[in-house]
Amino acid sequence: MITEIKKIYSTDFSVHHIILTDSFSNIPKSQLSEKESVYINKLDVEDEVKSVHFNNFEQQKFIISVPKKDKDFLTDEAFRKAGSSLKFQSLSIEEITIYDFTSSNGSLFFAEGMILGNYKFDKYKGKDKQKPLTHIFIYCDNLREKDVELMNISNQATFKCRDLSNEPQSVIDSVSIAKVFKEMCDETGITIEIFNKKKIESLKFGGILAVNKGSINEPTFSVMKWKPENAINKKPYIFVGKGVVFDTGGLNVKTGNSMLDMKIDMAGAAAVATAMWAISKAKLPVYAIALVPATDNRSNGNAYAPGDIIKMHNGKTVEIINTDAEGRMILADALSYASKFEPELVIDLATLTGSAVRAIGKYASAAMKNESCQHYDLLSKSGENVYERLVEFPMWDEYGDSIKSDFADIKNLGDSDAGLISAAKFLEHFVSFPWIHLDIAGSSILSSKYDYSTKGASGVGTRLLFDFVKKLTENKLD
Ligand code: BES
Ligand code: ZN
Ligand code: ZN
Repeated sequence: MITEIKKIYSTDFSVHHIILTDSFSNIPKSQLSEKESVYINKLDVEDEVKSVHFNNFEQQKFIISVPKKDKDFLTDEAFRKAGSSLKFQSLSIEEITIYDFTSSNGSLFFAEGMILGNYKFDKYKGKDKQKPLTHIFIYCDNLREKDVELMNISNQATFKCRDLSNEPQSVIDSVSIAKVFKEMCDETGITIEIFNKKKIESLKFGGILAVNKGSINEPTFSVMKWKPENAINKKPYIFVGKGVVFDTGGLNVKTGNSMLDMKIDMAGAAAVATAMWAISKAKLPVYAIALVPATDNRSNGNAYAPGDIIKMHNGKTVEIINTDAEGRMILADALSYASKFEPELVIDLATLTGSAVRAIGKYASAAMKNESCQHYDLLSKSGENVYERLVEFPMWDEYGDSIKSDFADIKNLGDSDAGLISAAKFLEHFVSFPWIHLDIAGSSILSSKYDYSTKGASGVGTRLLFDFVKKLTENKLD
């Protein structure tokens, strides 16, 4: 169940409502009772979020002030955070109206924070007695119906991404993930081709086949294509997602509890597929393709092993140093396959390295790009817009030295230093087009809730790619 936002054009203050502002002094006197005015005027609101709750039973009333920040994207984020911290869950509120007295459209971001922060992956738990919040109505002059529609799509897509990523490996395996993609594609008119093992063999995807050797499930490779007639681009934007449905490490088995979160090792795949769903649901006029190689990484009698030398889709050979560095093996084949579409740009999203987690934690994704990429600033701007920030790391040649191999063209693991960069240097060997690599290992998996990102899969990447494609089409939206 996901809360829907609706724009309304008339006021009714007898219902549950939120009066939202960037300064209490902007609230028209008529909206407050004498007592409320006196109380609110006593609060110092200079640069702090202030929230007051009047419990009038059938008319719950919140008055919230979120001061402006010096950049618009920071103000938007402050509204999201304020929305996610609203305590409405125990009040049995099914519908609530936001009256927006901000100088912008803070209500939209406030509602986004409320909705995303209220996400729960609870389908396997006993029934909750609380009534769900079905609607947030917004009364706001500075809000376009179109923005509301796009926000609803963005929220739905983010929920889909989190749901898919949070499912355990016993439910989402390499075959069932492709079925979920097919259902999403059929709903919005994306064409999808799902390659089975035979087709993957015929395409010589050696990296995917190597990682899959220890699995009882066959690998899949999904190609999702959204090509509307009014597309503004001839060459496609391609999104590639790491679809390791469970990462045990393989023969280099993960120890302790480090395997626990590895059902989320397909968060990149979930992000690209749900972003495609959003793009197509919104009918954005952009030719876009998503590629997802999917397998689990396990050990059995046939599993790939350290010392193996693997011939990849583009003909290069890779010496396996560690079977736990499997993500780059499957992504490499997907990236070299992408060249057949002559892409405008390829962006890959992958829960690739523990090194990225150690470098920047959960607050950003690690970004790396090649020389020919022209779109990095636009993507980084989208990262600010949706507050899924990017931090760029260098791709200097020296970082490629540690993956040179004595026995093959390259090896799948370099030094322990700067592992997130040597992983990107590995991928670069399979890229022949403008390219951005996003290591989302830190940003996609959360050990606890913070703000409107919930424990488990954060859903990072969906909103980022959706905003990026929206911005590409900005002039064409009205
Ligand atoms: N899926 C992991 C990376 C990961 C770690 C994602 C933590 C999310 C949270 C990846 O396949 C992996 O196992 N990487 C290892 C490689 C190892 C051989 C050095 C890593 O980076 O620790
Ligand atoms: Zn691994
Ligand atoms: Zn992995």
